[in-house]
Parts: sequence; C-alpha cells; structure tokens
Amino acid sequence: MVFETETLNLLAKALEELSSGFAFLPNPEGRVASRTAMGEVMTEVASRLHDNYPYFHPLYAGQMLKPPHPIARAAYALATWINPNNHALDGGRASSAMEREAVAEIAGMFGWKEHLGHLCGGGTMANLEALWVAGQLHPGKTIAASEQAHYTHHRISSVLRLPFAQVPSDNRGRMDATALEKILEAGHVGCVVATVGTTGTGSLDPLPNLLALRERYGFRLHVDAAYGGYYTLAANLDDDARAVYDLIGQADSIVVDPHKHGLQPYGCGCVLFRDPAVGVLYQHESPYTYFTSKDLHLGEISLECSRPGASAVALWATQRLLPLVRGGEFAAMLENSREAALALYGRLCADARWRAPFAPELDIVVWAPRSETARRTSELSQRIFDAAARRNLHLALIRLPVRFFVSDDASDWTGQQAGRQGEHDAVLCLRSVLMKPEHLAWVERIAEILEECVAESASL
Ligand SMILES: Cc1ncc(COP(=O)(O)O)c(C=O)c1O
Repeated sequence: MVFETETLNLLAKALEELSSGFAFLPNPEGRVASRTAMGEVMTEVASRLHDNYPYFHPLYAGQMLKPPHPIARAAYALATWINPNNHALDGGRASSAMEREAVAEIAGMFGWKEHLGHLCGGGTMANLEALWVAGQLHPGKTIAASEQAHYTHHRISSVLRLPFAQVPSDNRGRMDATALEKILEAGHVGCVVATVGTTGTGSLDPLPNLLALRERYGFRLHVDAAYGGYYTLAANLDDDARAVYDLIGQADSIVVDPHKHGLQPYGCGCVLFRDPAVGVLYQHESPYTYFTSKDLHLGEISLECSRPGASAVALWATQRLLPLVRGGEFAAMLENSREAALALYGRLCADARWRAPFAPELDIVVWAPRSETARRTSELSQRIFDAAARRNLHLALIRLPVRFFVSDDASDWTGQQAGRQGEHDAVLCLRSVLMKPEHLAWVERIAEILEECVAESASL
C-alpha cells in the first residue's frame, strides 16, 4: 500500500465523538444509498484516479503539488459530515471561529497582531480580493507587477478594469526596482504587487527597494506570497531572502496559500489586510443571512458567498498539530525542502553537462542541459523531461529568458544569442519544485535518474 491508512481509524473515532455531540437528535432514517452500489462506484472512482501523475510521491518533483497532511485530510473529511458554510455564522459557527483563529496565526507569522483576513478558494481569489481593495482605494489607477509575477495578476486587473503595467525582472527573476521607478515616475500606479516566491523560479522581489519607493510614490504594496509565504519560518534562508521576509509585515496586504506549502487540500487560499478598516469596503446587505449573531460573519468581509467550513477545520487542525513557529516541526519541513533544492543545485553545478542560472532562493530549481545553441538546449530539455517521466521521475518545464543565463558563462550561446536575437528570447529549461520534506532524502536518486537521462538524450 503506497498510501497511509492510519488516519481512517482516527477519522472513525473522531466521527463517533462528533456524533455524540448530536445524540439528543432523533436518528434520521433512510439516508444511505445501497452499499453495494456505492462500493461499485467507489471502485470505479479509484480506478479512474489511476490516471494521474503520482503527486504524493517524492519522485514527483515537477509542479507545485504537495499532498495534504493526514490530519488535514481527516479533519476535512470529518467536517463534511456537518458540511458547514463559512459565509455566515448561521451556516458554520464552529468552523468560522476556527477560521478566524487559523488566519490570525498566519497573520502572526508576519508580526501582525491586528489584521483583517479570511480564507478563500486559492491564490487567484485571494489576489483578486487584495487588488479589488487596491482598486477601491485608488480607483482607475494602474496595478504594476513583475513580468515573473503569476499570470493571473494581469487577468485580475482586466477583470477589475484596472490598467496593468508589466515591470521587467532582473536576471534572477526578481522585479527590477529601477525599471519600476521609471513606471512610477510616469504616475498613475495605485498598487505594486511584490511576489515573494515567484511561481517559475521561487525568486523574491526586492522588498527593501520597493518599500523605499512606496515612501516616495505612495502606492499600495501588495505581497503575493501565495507560494513563498510560509518560508518566513525557515532558519536556512540566505541573508538577502531573510531581509525580504523580515519586511513583509510592512505590506498593505498579503496573500499566502495554505493549499501550497500549508499542507492543505486544494481550495484554501488566504488574504490578509494590515488595516482592518478596509472591511468597510465590503459592506453589503444580505436579506438571507447574518441573522443568528451580531458578531462578524466572514461573508461580511469577503467577496465570495458560500465557502467550505471544512477548509478552515482542516487548516485549524493542521496548525494545532504543527504550530506556525520558527524552530518547530512545520518550519523544519520547509527547511528540508530548501536544503533539498540547494543539494540538487550543488550537484547540477558540479556537472559540466548542466547549466543552472542561479541558486534557488527557496525550493525551486531551474536548469538546462548545456549545448551550443539555445534551440538545441530546448530540444534536449524536452527529451530529458520525457526520459525522466519514463523512469517515473516527474519534472516540470519552464521557458526562461535566455538572458537569465548570462552570468554563468557569457561566452557560449547565451552571450551570442542575447546579442543577436534580443534579450527576451526564451529557452526551454527543466524545473523542479522540491516542496515535499521527503525530497531531501530523494535528491540522490533524482540526480541518478537525471544522469541516465542526460546520457541517453545526448546520444540521440
Ligand atoms: C505566486 C503565485 N501567486 C498566485 C498563484 C495562483 O494561485 P492559485 O493557483 O491557488 O489560484 C500561484 C500559483 O501557483 C502562485 O505561485
């Protein structure tokens, strides 16, 4: 059995405890469909789910996919017997309280004792809320984000009918603050999105410079830490990265995704606002809800209506087991991932057949097979990606600007092509998100498989 099953026993016990709290109710009759029919469907479901990459396994080292912690899975499942809706206290009392506690703990990672925040469907929804608030406070003004920011920022801006400015990045995938200043000088920027942990390369935008620019130009600073946010707890960041993390608390809003590094099932993002007063922007009347309590209903401070209370229950349980503190077990998991990334990067740098443009700032490694031309490198990357998958090692691919490689060896294709074809030419590279703590123990095996693949691909 490749999956752990112990949580099924924990779930059964917890379900008994949950049921005992409602023992005063008469037993509802006739709710369960035929067990045989359900069993048949479940077997069919299980076999349909075979058609997946093994996201839960350390040999899946491709995209940002990480299994939820067993306690999150169990707590989520347990909550579905109640199926609370965190829109209003009328729909989910306990789970709303748990959401507020869990979200306050996330805000606490950035030193925020006061905040306004809530869970939502994921990073896109969370960023939508943050940019919606920015647009309400600076109507019609531009949203600026780096060319390496998540693609949805541009789309969100168009949904909100706000102009969007793309800021060039430096050769390590970080926002170029000088280029941003040129855009700011032209005026009309209402909000700058700083990405702390870009999707492609895990790069960190330079918060010290961006905060200095905010002083001068007075925009809202939104930090998209959907991927990287939890890394503030890690003890093994380099100094520049630590400096960025230590400043996140000065942002106006922050997004962190518990369904990325927070060990949660999908459907769990989190948006935080430093100034709770932005809550007035959400004010609305609802003729259907908000009746059972005068306390704040989470629907009164979020754009969505219905939301799964089960997500809050799962998050609360996970944070209860693994508190969000430096030096704790949860922080150690992140530190392992970062160490895994550094170990893989070190191996790649020691092998002349590979080129890795820069050291990972978090746990995402990008690299490419060395060859005479960018075109040949792109072909080889695709071949190695396919060859690795045939050996059950699942990597990801990413198109990176050729100029990202200038610093490692300007005399070969990078230098020539950057000059001849323009600096925005892209080369297809390999990418690995080593976000599972188990990855550290698997780096050697991953490197062995890569060796086989590069040898096989070079001979084709
Ligand atoms: C930095 C960043 N922001 C936003 C998103 C979008 O998040 P979601 O896919 O949860 O909507 C992602 C997704 O990878 C991301 O990496």
